[in-house]
Amino acid sequence: MRKSFNTILVAVFLQLSLPALSANGNWPQHGFNAAETRHSPLTTIHSQNVSRLGLAWETSLDSSRGLEATPIVIDGIMYLTSNWSRVYALDARTGSILWKFDPKVPGEWAAKGCCDVVNRGVAVANERVFVGTFDGRLIALNANDGTVLWEVNTIDRTKPYTITGAPRVVGDKVLIGNGGGDFGVRGYVSAYAVADGSLSWRFYTVPGGADGPFEHQELAEAVKTWDRDSLWETGLGGTVWDSMAFDPELNLVYVGTGNGFPWPRFQRSPSGGDNLFLSSILALNADTGRLVWHYQTTPGDSWDYTATQHIVLADIKWQGKPRKVLFQAPKNGFFYIVDRSNGELLSANNYVHVSWASHVDLKTGRPISNASADYSKGERLVMPSTLGGHNWHPMSWNPSTGLVYIPAQEAATYFYPDRFTVLMAGAGPRNKIDIVPDDTFGTAKLLAWDPIVGAARWTVAYPMFSNAGVLSTAGNLVVQGDGEGFLNFYDASNGSVLQRIEIGTGIIAPPISYDMDGIQYISVLAGWGGALFSHAESGVAARRHSNSGRVISLKLGGGKVPLPVAQPAISSRLPGPALRELNVHAQRGRDVYEAHCGSCHGWFGHNGLLPDLRRSPPELIDELEPIVIDGALKERGMPSFDGQISEQELDDLKVFLRAVRAE
Ligand code: HEC
Repeated sequence: MRKSFNTILVAVFLQLSLPALSANGNWPQHGFNAAETRHSPLTTIHSQNVSRLGLAWETSLDSSRGLEATPIVIDGIMYLTSNWSRVYALDARTGSILWKFDPKVPGEWAAKGCCDVVNRGVAVANERVFVGTFDGRLIALNANDGTVLWEVNTIDRTKPYTITGAPRVVGDKVLIGNGGGDFGVRGYVSAYAVADGSLSWRFYTVPGGADGPFEHQELAEAVKTWDRDSLWETGLGGTVWDSMAFDPELNLVYVGTGNGFPWPRFQRSPSGGDNLFLSSILALNADTGRLVWHYQTTPGDSWDYTATQHIVLADIKWQGKPRKVLFQAPKNGFFYIVDRSNGELLSANNYVHVSWASHVDLKTGRPISNASADYSKGERLVMPSTLGGHNWHPMSWNPSTGLVYIPAQEAATYFYPDRFTVLMAGAGPRNKIDIVPDDTFGTAKLLAWDPIVGAARWTVAYPMFSNAGVLSTAGNLVVQGDGEGFLNFYDASNGSVLQRIEIGTGIIAPPISYDMDGIQYISVLAGWGGALFSHAESGVAARRHSNSGRVISLKLGGGKVPLPVAQPAISSRLPGPALRELNVHAQRGRDVYEAHCGSCHGWFGHNGLLPDLRRSPPELIDELEPIVIDGALKERGMPSFDGQISEQELDDLKVFLRAVRAE
């Protein structure tokens, strides 16, 4: 009964909104189209009138953590996710909430992720909305009312798997990967039937052991690139946690794979080897999941150089001939052009400073690594950093300007045989970095990259290390948010700033554009967080205003965007006695803090989004047991440390937290 009611509703709705149904008006897929270009053909808003842009509507998502999702807009409805993998359907004209769905991810699962409880969005097809949840489930919802049609578990629930990436629908299948490569899991990508969630195929990115059995034949080849005594029990990484693209003509699905675990190959696979298929681009047959070709960007990765970054499919003229290619700017700092029909490498130029390799040999397709990047014997400074020359923030490809707009970032990592430190602006002795020739080190940048020439045509440098996804439009615009809480509009051809709209909330998500009833909208999720959520620099809007998660939609002639409530500034200095003056208990307590708490509550000197424990009420610090051991705030993402922290350690932790208390 209920079902037929919904069908009628949809039919009526479709009829009414027919004039707006032009394919151009929608933002139907994660990257706009299957090629993931993120370039909107809409031209109502353009470089000449963008100064008239203002608020059409805003909708609170009731969240204070990182928002990374790309909204999907189909026939007047916007579908998106907030943190904790919650799904929303909004009226795309007004922003009013039509339905929401909470998959009820257990709060303690937060501790299994590196980079905040984020989600990058849904896929919508066949009147179904698909979401991957932070605790590893894939759920199909009825697009009309958000009720669950089916749900499958995609992971081994005893392992630290997460899902933050958006599913993609390819034909009658829905594809999903997972994360966890920094904690010890084995990577794979799976295809489930859209109809009922049954598993169609699964491709493992690394072998499960030296002698098999191998789930598929490709692993019998891949195993030859691993030490027999590799740390198989750790899973070895190679997770498919973000990028996918699809070429329907070639029937190929392209996925990017992640870093190795543990990071140093000298630990993971001591005798060496390329360690296939870590840090690679894989071309898989969409029907069978079998490998057609692969290109490994970082053989034997030791630097957390994932190749999970955004993959764009483009048709270009290369040396006078039309070629079907793909573009990727993975973490390792090289921009790759690969023939997407056969995997042949055409070009690889560095788009940020690179020290781990001198160049990529185009004949063999292999990088020429520098000995200076080998940290097996001692400290080494390596660029790009473990955060990558480019991370998950999507880029865009405008075929008219011939430019790829890349959210890039310059930083370095000190690697030691047993640990590492990321160096951003102001975070360390900059004079030690003799390899950095300019003062944009430690900042985020927007690069307008000419792939044919292999160089940036223009660059915008941001004052701090916070990046965001990019949209370009046929109105000659490039749109990108920033950590200070502005949405920026640049001239696509020369990078001049046309407009900056203050949102008051830091932005990391990519904007989109759609058209309803002849009105063009530009929308973005505002909500700062992600990998840096415990390292908020002082310029971050989240430290001036509450980090109030919202969807913002702008149109020509719109109003002023209201700013969220201002907050008292929080000092980033460590109050109380200097650390060296702490007594032995407080010093031990500091060690406990660093080992178990700092990743979420912030390293001193870098406040994050979560409560700063130096400001928690003294009664709370005296009575840590209910929260820290019994898990009183578990549902809100504060894990229980029962069995991990001894009574003595908890006492020491209290001494430490009292000593550093902010008055
Ligand atoms: C995985 C992330 C994570 C880790 C690790 C973590 N916490 Fe938390 N903690 C949270 C979150 C999220 C909250 C906020 C819950 C809420 O919304 O109220 C919180 C809240 C708290 C609070 C309440 C603070 C207040 O002022 O309301 C205390 C106390 C606390 N945590 C102590 C600790 C201690 C001590 C450790 C280390 C042993 C720790 N936490 C480790 C995520 C974490």
